Amino acid sequence: MAKFGVGGAHPGGIPLTKNILSGENITNKTQILDAGCGTGQTAAFLYQQYKAKVVGLEINPIMIKKAKKRFESLNLPIQLIQGSVENLPFPDNSFDYILSESVLAFVNKPIALREFFRVLKKGGRLIANEMTINTKLSPPEELEIMKFYALDSLLMEKDWKSLLGQTGFQDIVIKVENIATSQENNTTEFNFSKNFEPELFQILNEHGNMVLKYQGILSYRIITCSKV
Ligand SMILES: C[S@@+](CC[C@H](N)C(=O)[O-])C[C@H]1O[C@@H](n2cnc3c(N)ncnc32)[C@H](O)[C@@H]1O
Repeated sequence: MAKFGVGGAHPGGIPLTKNILSGENITNKTQILDAGCGTGQTAAFLYQQYKAKVVGLEINPIMIKKAKKRFESLNLPIQLIQGSVENLPFPDNSFDYILSESVLAFVNKPIALREFFRVLKKGGRLIANEMTINTKLSPPEELEIMKFYALDSLLMEKDWKSLLGQTGFQDIVIKVENIATSQENNTTEFNFSKNFEPELFQILNEHGNMVLKYQGILSYRIITCSKV
């Protein structure tokens, strides 16, 4: 994905992000962490739209390079840090918002959620757009999905809810995305690496097959919750 340089690499893309953020109280004083920011499309929007104080954190060096290039070319004062959501390099109570757009699904969820909770200020909010299965699958089916996407677990909506609750989050709201918004997303951005291997298209193809095979089951949810 890093070599494809996909911007808005989450279901619904940047149109859905804009839609969700428009319902939040974000100003030029708001401290926001875009956790697993990828190529930095959302982080850039947060500064351009709200002049918010944005930090992008990303583990993948190729993604970091592409995000850096974006911020520099647009002259955006966004702090970019290479690090892991499982061990956040920030003091407790640092952020008003944390965004996790299709990142939690790929990491150790209890550990990352504990880190999100720790670095959020009191009253701070987590907004996540995360892979969710709609019905329980057989063990071989679960394994197929987890292996392909390198996941350690597959959560249903109720599992997300209980994990967030166990971490200490409150006001947990989990929504199924409205189809109209995601269908508007025909604006996917690509920024291919120079050493892009054509074989990577095979992986994209397999992803397409996986989506088709598990249509109606492999889904995602918009999760919002607060540290009260
Ligand atoms: C599906 S992409 C989403 C990227 C971005 N949030 C977006 O919506 O365009 C998942 C991102 O999470 C990053 N990631 C994976 N594990 C991570 C970790 N432990 N800490 C920080 N970022 C991580 C990946 O490198 C990748 O950029």
